[in-house]
This record gives sequence, structure tokens and C-alpha cells, in this order.
Amino acid sequence: MSQDAALERIRAVAPTSRPRIAVLLGSGWGGLTQQLADAQRLRYAELPGFPGAGVAGHAGELWLGRLAGREVAVLSGRRHTYEDGSADGMKGALCTLRALGIQVLVQTNAAGSLDPAMPAGSLMLISDHLNLAQRSPLVGEAGSGRFVDMVDAYNPALRQVAHAAAARGGIALHEGVYAWMLGPQFETPAEIRMLRTLGARAVGMSTVPETIIARWLGLRVLSLSLVTNLAAGLSDEQLSHAHTLAMAEAAGERAGMLLSAVVQALAERVG
Ligand code: HPA
Repeated sequence: MSQDAALERIRAVAPTSRPRIAVLLGSGWGGLTQQLADAQRLRYAELPGFPGAGVAGHAGELWLGRLAGREVAVLSGRRHTYEDGSADGMKGALCTLRALGIQVLVQTNAAGSLDPAMPAGSLMLISDHLNLAQRSPLVGEAGSGRFVDMVDAYNPALRQVAHAAAARGGIALHEGVYAWMLGPQFETPAEIRMLRTLGARAVGMSTVPETIIARWLGLRVLSLSLVTNLAAGLSDEQLSHAHTLAMAEAAGERAGMLLSAVVQALAERVG
């Protein structure tokens, strides 16, 4: 199985590494890897079952290292469903990390905001999601395990830890529902009006498939969004991937501080 082969490769490079927390980095969140001590880096291409090359702004590397003395695994870059239509691009990687002993998945992404009170540069904790793409990474799985309970998918206790860490660091952290749209095109203003009616506060093209996989694997999940823009129709701004990356970069330092504080606080709880 590719999972065993990937695990073997990880063990060959980092034989003593036993992280309990994995962080999946989206656009704008890459700074975390620079804070790792004793870091070992593997390219996804070396790891069977991991995704191939992705989108600009995503490195495609697994890092193993220590953050403030605590072991962490960092997935830098994800496969998006809009790349080839399949929602299970990160399944092999997450199964391998589960086998390595990971218990908590911290996800990050860039998102559009549906709330003018949460402008570009804001940080939002995801409280729940809307799977509007209506795709699942579990299609084709057999057995009763695939009927995953999605209540509290974004773990309430971990969210409390994140809010406390943000407050200690003096970083404003919003919270809200994330709507997954398939992309890769941005939304229309009519779609954004629909999402607001449905109760979404942020919109993006990722994260939900990985949350489903993680819950299927029994991992606890925490997810953070970095707002790179007000969503379509809510401002005069022209949306583009370059704009997303530029805004993500501008807010990257604060995002990195929050992520590092949150991961450290979680590590103290998870061990
Ligand atoms: N829509 C969807 N995905 C996004 C956006 C957006 O406005 N901004 C960053 N990712």
C-alpha cells in the first residue's frame, strides 16, 4: 500500500519523529515552516500517495520539525478539487499522517469574506462548513465508517484553545461558517448573496474535503481562514489569484504569529 511506502520513507528521514499535530498550510500561511527547529523536509513527489505538483503559492512539501520544542508535521500545499475534479487529493497524505500518529489536523486557507466587518487581512476560525460543491472524498469507500458524523467537525474544545491563544497574543480572531465552492472561477455577486442568506461568513475553494477525510480518520480538526478580499459584489476590487497571494503575503506575518501561538497551545494539550 502506498501509505506503508510513504511511512517507510518518512521513518527513514526522521526515525524518531512522533508528531501528534499536523498543520496543512494554505495560501499565505507558509511562514510557519521557517519557525521549525530540527526540520526535515520531504517533497510530496517522494511520498507515494501524496499529491503531485499543485497551484502557484503551494510548495508541495511535508516538513517534520519542532515548534517551541513540540513535534509537528507540516503539509505545505494541498491538492484542490478544482484541479482534476476529485475531492480525495489529500486522502493518501492524511492517511499516512494518521498512521504516523497524528491526532489533530490544523488547516489553514485563504478565503473571501461575506461580512464587511471582516475585511481583507482578517483572521477567522471556522465554526462549521457548507459543502456547496456537494463532492465527497469518501465516494467509493465501503463499510459503515463512511457515514461520518459531521456535527462539531471543527472541534469546539480546540476552538476555545485557539481563541484563548489569539487573545493572549492580542490578535483579533473572528469565527464563522465557511462555504466551499468548487472554483476555480470566483463567485458571482448573486452566488455571494445566496451564501450570505445561507449563513456563510467566508467562502473558499478548499478545506472541506480535508475536514471530511480527517473526521473519517478520527482526527480532531481546527481550521483558520485568512481573509484576502471582500467577496464578489461587496467591493469594487477585481478578484484574481495574484490578488489573493498578494493580500495573503501582506497579512502573512500576523497569520504566522497566530498559527504558531495556536499550534503551541494545542500541542500543550495534545502532547
Ligand atoms: N472566493 C473563493 N475563494 C477565495 C476567495 C473568494 O473570494 N478569496 C480567496 N479565496
